[in-house]
Amino acid sequence: MVADAASRGKFGSNVGFILAAAGSAIGLGNIWGFPYMAAQSGGGAFVLLYLIAVGLIGVPVLLAELSIGRATQCSPVGAFARLAPRSAWPLVGALGVATGFAILAFYSVVAGWTVGYLFKALTFQFESGMTHEQSQAIFQGLSGSAGQSILWTAVFMVLTILVVRGGIQGGIERASKILMPVFFLLMLALVIRAVTLSNASGGIRYLFHFDLSAITPTIVLNALAQALFSLSLGMGAMITYGSYLSHEENLVGAGITVALADTSIALMAGLMIFPAIFHAGAQPAGDEGLVFVVLPTIFDKLPAGNLFAIAFYALLLIAALTSSISLLEVVVSYFVDERQWSREKSTWLLGIACFLLAVPCAASDAFMGIVIQIFYIYALAIGALLICVFTGWRWGTASAVGELRRGGGLPGLGGWAVLIRWVCPVVAALIVGTRIWGLVSSMLG
Ligand code: PHE
Repeated sequence: MVADAASRGKFGSNVGFILAAAGSAIGLGNIWGFPYMAAQSGGGAFVLLYLIAVGLIGVPVLLAELSIGRATQCSPVGAFARLAPRSAWPLVGALGVATGFAILAFYSVVAGWTVGYLFKALTFQFESGMTHEQSQAIFQGLSGSAGQSILWTAVFMVLTILVVRGGIQGGIERASKILMPVFFLLMLALVIRAVTLSNASGGIRYLFHFDLSAITPTIVLNALAQALFSLSLGMGAMITYGSYLSHEENLVGAGITVALADTSIALMAGLMIFPAIFHAGAQPAGDEGLVFVVLPTIFDKLPAGNLFAIAFYALLLIAALTSSISLLEVVVSYFVDERQWSREKSTWLLGIACFLLAVPCAASDAFMGIVIQIFYIYALAIGALLICVFTGWRWGTASAVGELRRGGGLPGLGGWAVLIRWVCPVVAALIVGTRIWGLVSSMLG
């Protein structure tokens, strides 16, 4: 049983849809993840591979997900059931629901740290002349204290619930229409400030120095995983958002706009962070602490540094919120569409349930590491692989292209069909295979 269109809701306009989908894509992955992964993998080499991964795998899978969602006007489980009745394909949707739930758990912990840091910036808690060790101690004091971490995670989860309970147009679309423009303005201001600092060019060179000899298989895998995560792919978020879009809108144009926005923001995050690091004479750190440990020591060395800090953590929080609402929406939409729960009840119950999984993530790095491994590394790649196989071989590219053409389309969809049938599944299978091989061999030896 599927809920009818009126009770599921719909985006009110194409712009609203693009802002919401871009809001889902642009998140901690772009501003917290991308710069530190680039730093971990030597800068430019990673950036180049990331751009290739977005074009070759990201955009095709994004269009596949959007077309499945819009063709069926159903959330993932129902969408697969409708296109492949009496088959096991709805399980791919179910995997997506589980993945969304688990990703939201660890995502809200990192987002919670962001809320904590915004609070610190607003209350002028970053002392001037702070050393790296002092900054490390502040981060430890927050992330290493289960109580504080859980408190800020709870605050963030409540914000997410409050948006999602408002529904598509009144909650998600409205929030995105307000938050995304604020986000873009803050981002632009911070990038302009960063690239006009002295020694900024060192940071820019670091990001765009494409050193091909630095490429290793691990960097290739990391770039692919990051491209899927950053575009919110492999777990049905884009199927879900596509299902709330009407057939009059140009799906291909919207999808490409979202991918371009997401990629530009990742690059802009690099242009904001690396020049600031080089200006301060610090080293780009390739770990999760980059925006929480390194940046606070740098803000203070910038003119109007505390303002910079407030703007930065506000920006990070907005990015995280417009993504977390899409994660929760995947889970909620399943219960609304397939189980006939009310939106109000689903949002609160599932948000609270997810918070219960976030608690051990906040309390234990080791537990959080395992959840990240399973869901960020494996589940998204497996989900993307199955979505490609489904679109290319079961539903069929002719039907998918038909859907993509409704409301406009763009030339080149024949090339898309080849990518989705051959290139994407092979690459996704290689990622999954290599990861599992690495896991098995590390367990054996
Ligand atoms: N794309 C988001 C980010 O970059 C994360 C996300 C992944 C959101 C999957 C929804 C689904 O932060």
